[in-house]
Amino acid sequence: MVKNLNIGVIGVGTVGASVIKILEENKEVICARAGVDIKVKKGVVKNLNKSRSVSIPLSTDIEDIINDKEIDVVVELMGGINEAYEVAKKTLQNKKALVTANKAMLAYHRYELQQIAGNIPIGFEASVCGGIPIIKALKDGLSANHILSLRGILNGTSNYILTQMIQNNQDFCSALQLAQHLGYAEADPSLDINGGDAGHKLLILASLAYGIDAKPQDILIEGIESINGDDIEFANEFGYAIKLLGIAKKQNNEIELRVHPAMIDKNKMIAKVEGVMNGISVIGDRVGETLYYGAGAGGEATASAVISDLIEIARGKSSLMLGFERSPQINLKPKENIQSRYYFRLSVDDKSGVLAQITSILTQNDISISTFLQKEIKQKNIAKILFSTHTTTERAIKNTIAELKKLESIIKEPYIIRIEDE
Ligand SMILES: NC(=O)c1ccc[n+]([C@@H]2O[C@H](COP(=O)([O-])OP(=O)(O)OC[C@H]3O[C@@H](n4cnc5c(N)ncnc54)[C@H](OP(=O)(O)O)[C@@H]3O)[C@@H](O)[C@H]2O)c1
Repeated sequence: MVKNLNIGVIGVGTVGASVIKILEENKEVICARAGVDIKVKKGVVKNLNKSRSVSIPLSTDIEDIINDKEIDVVVELMGGINEAYEVAKKTLQNKKALVTANKAMLAYHRYELQQIAGNIPIGFEASVCGGIPIIKALKDGLSANHILSLRGILNGTSNYILTQMIQNNQDFCSALQLAQHLGYAEADPSLDINGGDAGHKLLILASLAYGIDAKPQDILIEGIESINGDDIEFANEFGYAIKLLGIAKKQNNEIELRVHPAMIDKNKMIAKVEGVMNGISVIGDRVGETLYYGAGAGGEATASAVISDLIEIARGKSSLMLGFERSPQINLKPKENIQSRYYFRLSVDDKSGVLAQITSILTQNDISISTFLQKEIKQKNIAKILFSTHTTTERAIKNTIAELKKLESIIKEPYIIRIEDE
């Protein structure tokens, strides 16, 4: 006789409803793979009066699930940070397995949860890049490797906006409005466009790759809000695509973690990841480069990952949540020591001597120019100066920007985009 794995779903919204639907519609194959029948015993929501596409017993009391002795696995799909963390803690304290898609909560609390869990399984495949099995790839598939680097397009909304800006010459605001109209961006899209969401996911991946514990406030995170047509024109001219990248790199015992728009060679595979899709390149010391591509969000893709965790739990396979313990020998590279090439966009008074002032500041900071474009806006006596630098440090760039801002001839805040050449 087939046994049951009873689950309780906290949050029956976009992802929760898809989990319930797929468990019903793909019941046969899921049961065959799991070796047990995965049964949704009940769900918890905020508002019982909302109409729902699924029908399961519902309540508004989280304790109904956490304290139900017949429930084996709690699936947390309510979102938020603090309340979700309390739910996760209580679940584990009650010796129930946990499955969550909550990247924001894990960005802050993954190591506490790993410690509380001990041997109790926690599945979080759905927390990074929805349908792409990148957690299992890092935790299991690549586990013989030292991970040399990881670069990912980890947020579909920002990738959609950038694709619209590059392919259809839209400005940032109209591309964002279109993303909202099509349901790709939340009513409040801040975390998608300011790099926060990609930062949460990068931190989770970095723990799996390196055993490093860092919080969002510890790492360099910048968004795509200030990119404009000049930047795209420059990128085109020199053979680059612009992507919001999450980057993790290991050098000796230091890990560099950063999220920011980056100019990357147009011919690289990751540069071809367009629209709402996500893509990740991971380089292992033995396997070389591996690439992962797929839907990063959406009810069904995310639910597919949630259910893969449920199947793994049903199979009775349990391993340390993040693959290995926090690594004491690994340190986060200080932001100011990060090295890169940089693209600069400057708006200046169109008069003689300005360029000399700018190059003098660059020279003082030991920064040399690699490529250069000057655009004149005749009517306003303004010139746009667009250039890229050879490799330098964040420290030198910050000093340079501070010096440039003191010049009377600089009209707007200087803007930079990092260039990822490797
Ligand atoms: N949507 C995606 O594509 C996606 C992708 C990857 C990861 N995720 C993550 O998955 C999680 C869920 O996302 P979602 O898009 O499904 O969110 P959602 O559509 O807003 O659904 C949230 C659900 O949680 C319930 N809820 C919220 N606060 C609650 C509380 N205090 N007590 C009880 N129930 C509560 C809501 O109840 P009501 O229905 O009554 O409002 C709703 O059913 C989030 O952590 C998100 O970051 C989502």
